[in-house]
Amino acid sequence: MSHSSTFLILIIFLIASSSSATTRSRKARYQLSLDFYAKSCPKLDQLVASVTSQQFKEAPVSAPATIRLFFHDCFVQGCDASVLISSKPGSKEVAERDADDNKELAQEAFDTVDMAKALVERNCPGVVSCADILAVAARDFVHLAGGPYYQVKKGRWDGKISMASRVASNLPRSNATVDELVRLFSSKGLTLEDMVILSGAHTIGFAHCKQFVSRLYDYKGTKQPDPSIDPRLLKALKMSCPHYGGNTDIVAPFDVTTPFAFDNAYYGNLMAKLGLLASDQALFLDPRTKVLVQEMAKDKSKFFQEFGVAMDKMGSIGVKRGTKHGERRKVCSLHVG
Ligand code: HEM
Repeated sequence: MSHSSTFLILIIFLIASSSSATTRSRKARYQLSLDFYAKSCPKLDQLVASVTSQQFKEAPVSAPATIRLFFHDCFVQGCDASVLISSKPGSKEVAERDADDNKELAQEAFDTVDMAKALVERNCPGVVSCADILAVAARDFVHLAGGPYYQVKKGRWDGKISMASRVASNLPRSNATVDELVRLFSSKGLTLEDMVILSGAHTIGFAHCKQFVSRLYDYKGTKQPDPSIDPRLLKALKMSCPHYGGNTDIVAPFDVTTPFAFDNAYYGNLMAKLGLLASDQALFLDPRTKVLVQEMAKDKSKFFQEFGVAMDKMGSIGVKRGTKHGERRKVCSLHVG
């Protein structure tokens, strides 16, 4: 072997090993952990729990609202609490939370995070990120509503960028096809299975009429209702949601059978044509996702187990660490910079 080819192999080896080292160190740097605040804020989970349990009693809508808030945070710019930042008065740039797709995020969710953050700041000042508090609060509400209690890894920093213009392309539409959903979820590192499991969050909460009204009166331009809605549900939804001129504040429950309980009824509903959004019902209509829907409808403990795993995966999207891209805000809505 000539000197030059040895040299080339050596260079290739060095490049390969250094790039795998950076990948490794980058991964290590951004990895979340269960004991991240073990020394700096050991009571974090209890502090957040005292707020979430109180909120659940006083304003139960905080549960679905906070779970959704966490989803909208993670899908846009990663789980970095960028959805919590308020637009600056007078500034041209509008923040994520004021984007059209976020307008219906309920205030109770923001209030819950603010209250939990204030309590945590009193006990462990300047240590815990808003992004971690949101992740923990979402888990608490899943559990308070009857769902699984899964461990939440921590170590997210808060992001510094929050732009309304980045929201729409990163969130799913209520009439999305399974293909579109798969594409979006896979762009976040989530599989088709993760998508079906995470959609099970629609076992609690509500949607505004505009999100499904076209299914009731004019499905895909046919001037007919969506044939995959149960006729009794169709009738009930039509009464709440007229084709035109209805009250824009009216909402319908995602899970008509047990709207306040975090259970696996969502999947049984899909099998019985009781899905609320076209994107929900599509999961039973598409052969790729149908089997999983049936499996989850049959086995609640499997759903609970998988839901915890999928939330952990979703909670790791685009995690930030360090002062270049991140910060730890004192007040979650306020990015000073
Ligand atoms: C699969 C694609 C998804 C679509 C198309 C979708 C769409 C929607 C829509 C349109 C609403 C109703 C908003 C309103 O009218 O106020 C909603 C609510 C909700 N979404 Fe999703 N979503 C999806 C996935 C998820 C995921 C992954 C989660 C969480 C893990 C989630 C959690 C929720 C919750 C809990 C609510 C109820 C909010 C409340 O009652 O305040 N969704 N979703």
